[in-house]
Amino acid sequence: MIFKNKLIGQFYLILILFFCGVVFIFWWQDFRRTQQPLIAPSESKENIALNEPIQPITLQLELNESKVKLGDKLFHEPRLSSDNKVSCASCHNLNTGGTDRLVRSIGIQKQLDFINSPTVFNSGFNFKQFWDGRVETLEAQAEQAILSGRLMGKKSWLEVINKLKQFSKYNFWFRQLYPDGITSDNIKDAIAMFERSLYTPNSRFDQFLNGNQNAITEEEKEGYRRFKSYGCVSCHQGMLLGGNMFQTFGLLGDYFGDRGKVTKADLGRFNVTGDKHDRYAFKVPSLRNIVLTSPYFHDGSAETLEEAIKVMAKYQLGRQLPQTDITLIIKFLRTLTGEYQGKPL
Ligand code: HEC
Ligand code: HEC
Repeated sequence: MIFKNKLIGQFYLILILFFCGVVFIFWWQDFRRTQQPLIAPSESKENIALNEPIQPITLQLELNESKVKLGDKLFHEPRLSSDNKVSCASCHNLNTGGTDRLVRSIGIQKQLDFINSPTVFNSGFNFKQFWDGRVETLEAQAEQAILSGRLMGKKSWLEVINKLKQFSKYNFWFRQLYPDGITSDNIKDAIAMFERSLYTPNSRFDQFLNGNQNAITEEEKEGYRRFKSYGCVSCHQGMLLGGNMFQTFGLLGDYFGDRGKVTKADLGRFNVTGDKHDRYAFKVPSLRNIVLTSPYFHDGSAETLEEAIKVMAKYQLGRQLPQTDITLIIKFLRTLTGEYQGKPL
């Protein structure tokens, strides 16, 4: 025995046993965690969102309420368009899920746009704006809408500013919030602030993610499981179930060949980068409030969720889904409708 003193020997033995005990406890806790089912048992009040590829929408955002109010006025202001008839809300109606429910939007002088209008709800959480992600911010997006020949048709910011300056209430409101009054930056700032207020938390699915196991039914849970197991979630994920990456439409099938009549808008992200790998790539759209925003896809080609899911299965996953699974996935998607200002959308 190397220990001259028996007492020191015993001391080291106890120390080693103690150390082994600590290691075992840590291992056991970790082992138990990995053994827990993905969806925790119904007694659990734990926030299960931590283990899921989808996160709930933040319940409360800190926003400048006065700017939100001014932005609301501007969002509903048809005088921001050259024929005084079209406001942001014409194509993004808050009573119809933040869209116009048309295949393609209609702008000034009844011009048909090239692409389907996405919802403005939750657009503040998108990683980029527009189907092709050509701008980064809501401010830059608002500028494009107002100065677009098709949508709102204003020739310049000067034209917009001079128009608003004719109204004393706008002069008053702007001066109250911004020292320099009505400017292009301030108009964009107020509109963007209003758009950030258009978030829709507390859907039944979010309540489930936040630990309320009874917020969705067994069938809806099953629909969610299929949504994950088929791999929809590899593209539709995160807080918005979309809005955080680009993906090619027609990854495993020739969607555009089958549909025919390819337009410039169909080229998607390619129009921004000129890179051939980006041909037909689009920002993966959010599936929040999806039952309210038909028709679907950038070309508005799918009238119902059932059609959209069949197209997704065929061209994004290269397979055909049994009708029962489509029905279950639709049931899950129905749980994604949230609340705006405390009321269901
Ligand atoms: C004439 C219809 C029309 C008008 C008016 C209009 N939009 Fe849009 N909006 C669209 C269309 C269509 C798109 C998609 C265009 C694209 O991706 O190329 C879009 C895209 C957007 C997006 C991007 C959403 C996303 O998920 O990428 C936001 C945000 C938005 N609009 C807000 C506004 C605001 C703010 C105004 C007013 C200043 C406005 N829009 C005016 C039709 C319209
Ligand atoms: C490889 C990525 C990918 C996968 C996998 C995928 N999607 Fe999509 N999804 C997209 C893209 C990209 C779009 C936009 C296509 C377009 O309009 O150009 C889209 C659009 C949609 C839309 C229409 C949204 C709207 O507002 O127009 C729905 C609904 C949808 N997907 C559901 C699903 C379901 C359900 C599954 C699984 C069966 C699925 N997706 C699988 C990438 C994907």
